[in-house]
Amino acid sequence: MIFEQLKPQIEAVISNIESSVDAKLLSICRVLETHIDYYNWVGFYFKNGDKNELKLGPYAGEPTNHTIIPFGKGICGQVALSNANFVVQDVKAQDNYIACSINVKAEIVIPIFVNGINIGQIDIDSNSPNPFTEEDERFLEFICKKVSTIL
Ligand code: SME
Repeated sequence: MIFEQLKPQIEAVISNIESSVDAKLLSICRVLETHIDYYNWVGFYFKNGDKNELKLGPYAGEPTNHTIIPFGKGICGQVALSNANFVVQDVKAQDNYIACSINVKAEIVIPIFVNGINIGQIDIDSNSPNPFTEEDERFLEFICKKVSTIL
């Protein structure tokens, strides 16, 4: 299983004492975008200081205009409020969705908690329809837990 093969790579990135937090986050994005064929855009969003909005952090894939997302807006903004995973197998079926690219068919967003507080999220866009399973959720929860240890 690709996820089990990637976990040691993620752990190596996290524990690399030579690199900054942003460099580690960027490496994680690149590992995921490179090795999982249906992960076509991978990025981190974090709460922007004391504002009720998300700010784009490191990402792999096409640049996006959506560098700031108010809480409640789009899939990402909803996860900032719900504290729950959001798996969207068909973005066309969502009313509250912010389109980044016409190629995107599906999206998954998993929150990151530090001391029980939702401080950000990993966001993945897929150009394949209906691509995600519970295995994706478990794998991405593993990554978010690891990331929370370096924030
Ligand atoms: N589609 C997201 C916006 C961020 S992009 O996918 C990079 C949303 O609806 O929140």
